[in-house]
Amino acid sequence: MQNTKRPPATVLFIFGGSGDLNYRKLTPALYNLFLDNWMPEQFAIAGIGRSPYTDEAYHEHLLDGVTKFSRRKGKQNGHWTEFSQHVLYLQMDGDDAAAYHKITDLVTKKEEEWGVHPNVIFYLAVAPQLVPSIAQKLGALQICHDKSTTRIVVEKPFGHDLESAHELNELLSGMFAEEQIFRIDHYLGKETVQNILALRFANALFEPLWNRNYIDHIQITAAESVGLEGRGGYFEHAGALRDMVQNHILQILCMIAMEPPVSFDANEIRNKKVDVLNAIRRISKEQVHDFAVRGQYSGGWKKGDKVVGYRQEEGVNPQSNIDTFAAVKFYIDNWRWQGVPIYVRTGKYLNQKATHITLQFKPAPHYAFPAESAESWRSNRLTISIQPNMDISIRFQAKRPGQTMTLDPVDMTFDYDEVAGEHAPEAYETLLLDVMEGDATLFMRNDQVDAAWKVIMPILETWEGRTPQDFPNYAPDSWGPDDADALIARDGHTWINLPPVP
Ligand code: BG6
Repeated sequence: MQNTKRPPATVLFIFGGSGDLNYRKLTPALYNLFLDNWMPEQFAIAGIGRSPYTDEAYHEHLLDGVTKFSRRKGKQNGHWTEFSQHVLYLQMDGDDAAAYHKITDLVTKKEEEWGVHPNVIFYLAVAPQLVPSIAQKLGALQICHDKSTTRIVVEKPFGHDLESAHELNELLSGMFAEEQIFRIDHYLGKETVQNILALRFANALFEPLWNRNYIDHIQITAAESVGLEGRGGYFEHAGALRDMVQNHILQILCMIAMEPPVSFDANEIRNKKVDVLNAIRRISKEQVHDFAVRGQYSGGWKKGDKVVGYRQEEGVNPQSNIDTFAAVKFYIDNWRWQGVPIYVRTGKYLNQKATHITLQFKPAPHYAFPAESAESWRSNRLTISIQPNMDISIRFQAKRPGQTMTLDPVDMTFDYDEVAGEHAPEAYETLLLDVMEGDATLFMRNDQVDAAWKVIMPILETWEGRTPQDFPNYAPDSWGPDDADALIARDGHTWINLPPVP
């Protein structure tokens, strides 16, 4: 099928072209867009890196990544040669200002070849400390002044704390207009995360109940079953709160809690989201203990394999106090959510890979059934599973078939896989297409990034200033430290774990 709305001619430069993100995510996503006819008619992709590669060796390396990591798992590699003709490798050091003419030369060459001025996109898939220096050198290029066609894409982490994020924003905005800067949070590209907006705002059914009058509390779990996967050096400077809560989890929370947008204009959606971040109650440093729990995994067994503790991982300080687990209770101080606790948790080496959101409804106001009919009675609950299951499920009470009036909770489930199958695009496909089209709806604006840092700064600062007494405090394959259970149990609730994927 030909897509009628393909993006205009594009030259995409990937800094970190020989790196892991490009290998595992970006090139597989670009190749899938190509297979699905979403790539522009005229495009070129230039991987930039210091390692030496000929174009041929580079293509081979990328094809390996496509075979291993694409959602198609190499099933349609037959079009690779055609695709790879658009891909080349530029060996250059991002620190070497004199080498940047290679970029301008390529753009000029493509412009002459295609007869149009293309979109020029710079994707910075590099370590965060390299971003300022590359951005500055790019900013000096004439093509970067072209606000409508040149864009820069910056990966997370966006800053290390509020101050450094602010500095990075200042630096970028000295060279690029806000509409040229695309700050990626790949969770926003996930189909099931985008579907939250459809569920909430394309249906009349849910919105009247979506507030403090009916919802008792909300839970967001982003559990990972993997450990560091060789990223000790990065994680040691991040921790779970920075790595997952400041960005992915707070962005999901915004989608769940935002007010209905008037339109799907990028700024309108982002205004509504930033309102949520600004309304999140600030936790004072004295209260951090009551609102946040941190954890670090010990050595132990993970699904039958022996694994080392965090402090024994490569690249990690043997006395490290970095959190590999974080749980936080938030409140949103506005009319819709006043008094509704929102519990979030994330961690490495947990029992399952599972990202889901649960809205727990209040009990029915009056219960006319005899006590014995309702032994297994439960409040209604709406669960949105982001991954690995992609479904939305509503729990309600139903009569158990038979001659007695006995009630049981049952689930009504919409399974995304049944309608999408392998056709559901991956997050990076959606986001790369949006960058090529210049649609910033799913990207974070500078004020969103600032507001998200403001939310977590008191927790970060308190944790950094106070040595944890009990680290390591959870075993691999568990659901995190006992204190995380206590955090939610104090309010009379328990964490909701979904049945594992068979
Ligand atoms: C990244 C984090 O942003 O998200 C990683 O840096 C984490 O530590 C990853 O593993 C999780 O993403 P996903 O899409 O696998 O849930």
